[in-house]
Amino acid sequence: MNTTSIVIFGASGDLSQRKLIPGLFSLYRKGRLPEKFNIIGLSTSEMSDEQFREKVHQSTEKFSQEAMDDEAWKIFEQLLFYQPGSFNSIEDFQHLGERLTNIEAGPANRLYYLATPPRFFSIIVSTLGELNMTIEKVGWRRVVIEKPFGTDAESARELNHQLYQVLNEDQIFRIDHYLGKETVQNILTFRFANSLYEPLWNHNFIDHVQITVAEKVGVGTRANYYDGVGALRDMFQNHIFQLLSLTAMEPPASLKAEDLRREKVKALKSVRPLSRDDVELNTVRGQYNGYREAQGTAPDSQTETYAALRLFVDNPRWQGTPFYLRSGKALADKSTEIVIQFKSLTLPSGLSESIGSMHPNFLSFCLQPDEGIHQRLDIKVPDTQADSRPVDMAFHYQDFFGESAIPEAYERLLLDALNGDASLFTRGDRDELAWELLNPIMTAWEEPSDIPLFTYDVGSWGPTAADRLLERDGRRWMRICGLHP
Ligand code: BG6
Repeated sequence: MNTTSIVIFGASGDLSQRKLIPGLFSLYRKGRLPEKFNIIGLSTSEMSDEQFREKVHQSTEKFSQEAMDDEAWKIFEQLLFYQPGSFNSIEDFQHLGERLTNIEAGPANRLYYLATPPRFFSIIVSTLGELNMTIEKVGWRRVVIEKPFGTDAESARELNHQLYQVLNEDQIFRIDHYLGKETVQNILTFRFANSLYEPLWNHNFIDHVQITVAEKVGVGTRANYYDGVGALRDMFQNHIFQLLSLTAMEPPASLKAEDLRREKVKALKSVRPLSRDDVELNTVRGQYNGYREAQGTAPDSQTETYAALRLFVDNPRWQGTPFYLRSGKALADKSTEIVIQFKSLTLPSGLSESIGSMHPNFLSFCLQPDEGIHQRLDIKVPDTQADSRPVDMAFHYQDFFGESAIPEAYERLLLDALNGDASLFTRGDRDELAWELLNPIMTAWEEPSDIPLFTYDVGSWGPTAADRLLERDGRRWMRICGLHP
C-alpha cells in the first residue's frame, strides 16, 4: 500500500501553525488520514525535526478546537518531519526529494501544500516539475494552492498557464477556505433539499439578496500584505463571489466537482459586467479612520478597507433582482450572512387594512459567528384584532448538534484534497472570470478619478454612502442573524 506524504511549503508560517497542522491532527484523531502517512514541512527557518515538533505541538494545543490528546500526539509527532530550505533553490528541492524518498521507503502519494506568499507559487511548482516530482507514476501528485490566485485576470491567466506546464487541472486544488465552512456548504443542501424554498428561489418571489461579510478586526499586523490589496481583492474575488455563486446558481446535475463547478462558473458568467459609469453608480469604497497609521501602510494609502457593490445576475432566474454585497474591516461586529428578502404580497385592500402594516419575509443564512438559519415571518400580535408583527424562527447548529459540531474549514478541505475530491476547490477558469468581473472596478478605483474613497469610523457599519446604495432602491441593509440572543 502506498504511503501518503503531505508536504507543507511555508510550514513555519501562520497558516500552517494555526490551521493546517491542527487540522491534520484533528483528522488523525478521527481516524480519517490515510493509514500510512507522514507530514514534512519546508520553510526557510532553521529547525530540527524535534524543534519543529515542539513548535507545532504548542500551536496545535493553542489553536485546536479540542483539548490536546497527549497519547495521540505522541504517535502523530513521530510522523512529522522538517526540512529547512529556500523556495527558490533547486538544490533544496533536491534535498527535499531525497528526504521524502527516505521517509516514504516505497511507493507514495504526495500532497504538496503551498502555504507560502503567492509570489512563490509558480517557482515552487515549476521546480517540482523540473525535478519530476509531479509525475504520477507510482502514486498521485496533487498541489494545493492558497489564495490570492493572481491579482487580476491577466496574472491569474499567467499563473494558470504556468501550472498547466507541469500539472493537469485534476492535480490542482485552488483553495478558498469559505468553501470548507460547513454553513457555506449548507447553502446548497438547504436550497435543494427543501421544497418550501426552491420553487420561490427566483425573481418572481425574491425582492433582492444581500451578502455581508463584516469583520470587527482592523488590518492588525497584516498591513504589509493588505495595503495595496484591499477589500475587493482580499474578499470579493474569492469568498464573496463564491457565496454569490452558491446563492444564484442553478441546480447542478450532482455534487461531483465537475457538475458543481460548471454551474458555479455559469452563475458568475451571468453577472452583468460593470461599465465605467456603472462603477460610479453601483460601487462604494471606504477606508476606516486610523488605517493609515497602522504599521506597514502608506501614509497616503488609497487602499479600501470596505467595499459595497450592487450587481445583477442576468439570467431568467434572476432578471432584475439586485444582489448587494458588502465587506469591510474594523466594523461594528463580526458577522457573515446572506439575507434573502422576499417580495411582499398584494392582498385585497380590505384584508390588508385589517392586518395593518405587513413586513417582508426574510431568510437568512448565518455563516458566522453563530452558524445557522433564520426565517422572519409575520404573525398575529396577541390580544389585538389582527395586527401583525415580524418574528424570527431560528436554527443554530450549536443548539442542535453541540458546541464542537462544526469542524474547521481547513480540516474538511485537507481531507477532500487527500481524497482527490475537488468539488470544494476552485476551477482555473473561475478565478480568471472573477477577476474579469472586478477589473472595471479596480481600474476605476485605481486611476486618478473623482470616485470618492469615503472614510468611516472604527466600530461603525461603514460609510453612509453604502446605505444610500440601497436607499436609492427603497431598501436598507439588514441584519437578521445578529439579533439572535
Ligand atoms: C481571508 C482574508 O481570506 O479571510 C482576511 O485574507 C480575512 O483578510 C479572512 O480576515 C476572513 O476569514 P473568516 O473565515 O474569518 O471570515
